[in-house]
Amino acid sequence: MTTREWVIVNPAGSRRVVVTKELPGARWLQLLTAADCRVEIAQGEDILTAEEIRAACGEHIDAVIGQLTESWSAEALGALKAAGALIYSQFAVGYDNVDVAAATRLGLPVGNTPGVLTETTAEMAVALTFAAARRLAEGERMMRAGAYHGWLPTMLLGSLLYRGTLGIVGAGRIGAAYGRMLVEGHKMDLVYYDVRVNAELEHYVADYAAFLVAHGEAPVTCRRAEALEELLRACDVVSIHAALTAGTHHLMGAPELAAMKDEAVLVNASRGPLIDEAALVAHCRAHPRFRAGLDVYESEPAMAPGLAALDNVVLVPHLGSATTWTREGMATLAAANAAAILQGWPVWPAAAGLADVAPFLDDPEPPHAAPSIVNAVELGLPRLAAQPQAKEDQS
Ligand code: DGY
Repeated sequence: MTTREWVIVNPAGSRRVVVTKELPGARWLQLLTAADCRVEIAQGEDILTAEEIRAACGEHIDAVIGQLTESWSAEALGALKAAGALIYSQFAVGYDNVDVAAATRLGLPVGNTPGVLTETTAEMAVALTFAAARRLAEGERMMRAGAYHGWLPTMLLGSLLYRGTLGIVGAGRIGAAYGRMLVEGHKMDLVYYDVRVNAELEHYVADYAAFLVAHGEAPVTCRRAEALEELLRACDVVSIHAALTAGTHHLMGAPELAAMKDEAVLVNASRGPLIDEAALVAHCRAHPRFRAGLDVYESEPAMAPGLAALDNVVLVPHLGSATTWTREGMATLAAANAAAILQGWPVWPAAAGLADVAPFLDDPEPPHAAPSIVNAVELGLPRLAAQPQAKEDQS
């Protein structure tokens, strides 16, 4: 095992917090040092192994801020707890790499970073949608190869999405934001598949449809599909926004891909294993007019054999949340979760969207609360009482 380098910030701090990757911005470190933490930051781009995580926990640790690329198994969380940690704080909104059930059994809160990724990730899914539909990567490769020899009526023809039908699989925060971007911007009809009815989204689209009609335009529609196959058959674009669980692993396999239109676009900016990548390679090979835009992969950073050679697939390296503002916000929320639990503060009442977590990002005196603890209810952690409305909002 190579020896990893660590940067130590506020070495005299009384609480020991290990951060497994360098994080962007300055606010997150200010929050931790204000909470009297000694912050140990792992250097290097490679993923910490289970042994390194165990060694980093050492004899005593108060908290870890970790990454979605690491395996926070029952064993790793057990080592954390045994070393005295009070929280595992994930630098991500998704936490499929964390055995939350085990953390709950151990009495260990697990933090995450909702709110700041929603529009950012939805925008990436939109970017992939158009890149795939309009063959941007193929065009770019052609330009760079000096293979563009002049405009042609038949060159690199793609699909027009305006007024087409959009399918979102998982209509949570990010899925709904993506859906609204394409419904509002490109007047697509929306079909969604989710175990829950998203009444807010349905009302929003209904109001927008009424607005279009008032302006002499055809309305847009929104409906919830009873079955995934129904959505797949109906849609020109299908974008995956579901969480990865045992139930959603390989949600899109060969039969589901076969149910899609031959010229459809499939986008995934959620988690790679929701798609059977080998089946996708076979499908794209057999259907050259089918297109996919992928931000995530089944066994990141590896790709299924053959994927990289396909012209009808656009590939980016898990960049969904990669804007400076979002990543700094994620660092702030991850640090705020750790600092709050270490100081015995309660959990913030709700963290469903940006408005809910904004005080942690912007206020000079952030709330004395943990912005988002995923197992707060199971652990019976106290919630901060709902905040009184600002004076000007009261009527
Ligand atoms: C997350 O936070 O879960 C994202 O995948 C990071 O981009």
